[in-house]
Amino acid sequence: MSAQIIVFANQKGGVGKTTTAVNLGAFMAEAGKRILLVDFDPQGNLSSSVGSDHNRAGIYEVLAEKSTAEAALQTTGVENLTVLSSDINLSALNVELIDAEDKEYYLKDILDPLRPNYDYIFIDCPPSLGVLTLNGLAAADKVIIPMQCEYFALEGMTLLLRTIKSVQEGVNKDLQLGGIVFTMYDSRTNLANEVVQEVTSYFKDKVFRSIIPRNVKLSEAPSHGVPISKYDRSCQGALSYKNLAVEVIARG
Ligand SMILES: Nc1ncnc2c1ncn2[C@@H]1O[C@H](COP(=O)(O)OP(=O)(O)OP(=O)(O)O)[C@@H](O)[C@H]1O
Ligand SMILES: [Mg+2]
Repeated sequence: MSAQIIVFANQKGGVGKTTTAVNLGAFMAEAGKRILLVDFDPQGNLSSSVGSDHNRAGIYEVLAEKSTAEAALQTTGVENLTVLSSDINLSALNVELIDAEDKEYYLKDILDPLRPNYDYIFIDCPPSLGVLTLNGLAAADKVIIPMQCEYFALEGMTLLLRTIKSVQEGVNKDLQLGGIVFTMYDSRTNLANEVVQEVTSYFKDKVFRSIIPRNVKLSEAPSHGVPISKYDRSCQGALSYKNLAVEVIARG
């Protein structure tokens, strides 16, 4: 058995990439799947969302060969949920990699040897289509696009899909679109409903049926360093991520 690698990507900022990676990962871990969360964003939001230790080596140190991947793995408060953290040091990689040969494969080379130890490896990307996100797309089997239910969400999609296509034609021919997950949904607004309908009519069954509502508990949990499953597991946000976990596992 070998882990499936899923990257969460959208160059638009604040659409729920990190929130989705953490909480989906936590519920899949609860369902018995061995999950590795890889923070590949210099903002380090995923790392703090699971309470990782900032003094430990993270993904940058592994890439810079100052640590082995094994030494950088950290347990979290959730059984089966492991994290490879990041911090602002990772931003140096943007610069360091610009002229490097095979610069898209740095992350893949680190993650492939870890595959036997997990069922899923999740990569959280920064809000850009730069070299970090390209490394994520090159390393992954599937890309999941978190999408906020608002008008401008659609505008960025063309560019994102074009990038995914060029990755599929170049550095990662096996990359598949794993799905689109709607986040921060507010059923009271017509616009949210229109966006869901329009995107669903285009992407059809690629759209996950579990829609994540706007829920303040989801935004509070990170400041406690725990996923929503450990903060308020009965809130709507938790239930929707739990449903999403069932769906993702079912899609295989
Ligand atoms: N469903 C939700 N309801 C309410 N708040 C949410 C929800 N999802 C995410 N948030 C909050 O919105 C903000 C942005 O979410 P998040 O950090 O997951 O997005 P992101 O796409 O990872 O952002 P970035 O592009 O900066 O990495 C965070 O403060 C988060 O706590
Ligand atoms: Mg993020």
